[in-house]
Amino acid sequence: MRARICGTGSALPRREVTNDELSKIMDTSDEWIRSRTGICSRHLAVEESLTALAARAARQALSEAGMEAAELDMILAATLSADKLLPSLACELQRELSAERAVAFDINAACSGFIFALQTADAYIKSGQYGKILVVGGEILSKLMDWNDRSTCVLFGDGAGAAVVRADSEFGILGSVQGSDGARGEVLMCEDRKNNNPYVSNTKDLSYVSMDGQEVYKFAVRTVPEAILKATERAGISVDEVDLFILHQANIRILQSVSKRLKIPMEKIPMNLQTCGNISAGSIPILLDFVNRRGMIQRGNKIVLAGFGAGLTWGASALTW
Ligand code: UT7
Repeated sequence: MRARICGTGSALPRREVTNDELSKIMDTSDEWIRSRTGICSRHLAVEESLTALAARAARQALSEAGMEAAELDMILAATLSADKLLPSLACELQRELSAERAVAFDINAACSGFIFALQTADAYIKSGQYGKILVVGGEILSKLMDWNDRSTCVLFGDGAGAAVVRADSEFGILGSVQGSDGARGEVLMCEDRKNNNPYVSNTKDLSYVSMDGQEVYKFAVRTVPEAILKATERAGISVDEVDLFILHQANIRILQSVSKRLKIPMEKIPMNLQTCGNISAGSIPILLDFVNRRGMIQRGNKIVLAGFGAGLTWGASALTW
């Protein structure tokens, strides 16, 4: 048995903020953001919670899968920006959806989070322990941004995506790869609240996301092609046989570099970073849903999902739809 995606969903906050709007509140320009990243606008949560966005995405995915929430064995939520430290986003979702039977927990692998969660679902399914799993990836990254740091805050957006997976003997995940390099974690980080127990003296303020963009860029253009090659090799297919590559949406130049290195035509690398920015763990499932809803994937198609992010982490899965 393997995990087969049988329904997808996505939800973005209502408020869309263009580059021009940002240039009114900070020293940046549409020209800079567009030419360096490909991003034109992003959605930022003003009134929505992450739980509400994730629940909207999950309901769409369940509906496409023809499954009731009560049937779910498990909910895995990939996020680094849950509404609460406790309970987890997955448990909040379980309550929202009334998925009483489901075991629910979060996974934090940053922008690789959805891939890691999907691979975790696949492992549970392969073990025979569970058969129906909701995998969600979503973020409200705007709360973790330093809005005085133009080098990071213009890049990211908010939103959530979901996929329902079930055990299948024929279709589904064929081969996967994942990796971590904690030794290089400082290139993309965000510290949590300070320790304030009575025995420490720590006056550090809350921290926001900080990034060495060029280091992350170099890491991405090397790691993503390697991960794609390994995942397809494990799946027993060639890169040429893949119909679509759903890649983490961080920067159009990274996608173009992957295209060049692996000789993949850009038509096989769909994008929504233009209007979504980088939604970390939400980026891959949201794009997957966009593509699915536009009828761009047919049953039996070969798809590769691949991402990279803080940790550092990276992962790829090759699957048949
Ligand atoms: O999910 C994982 C996420 N992260 C990534 O994938 C990030 C990967 N890295 C990148 O995408 C790129 O490195 C960035 C888009 C972040 C930056 O592009 P870059 O070509 O590496 O630019 P840079 O950091 O070298 O900055 C170039 C200049 C600097 O000015 P000076 O020092 O040359 O005068 C920056 O201060 O651009 C300036 N700059 C800006 N200017 C206008 C930085 N941010 C902005 C901005 N608007 N928003």
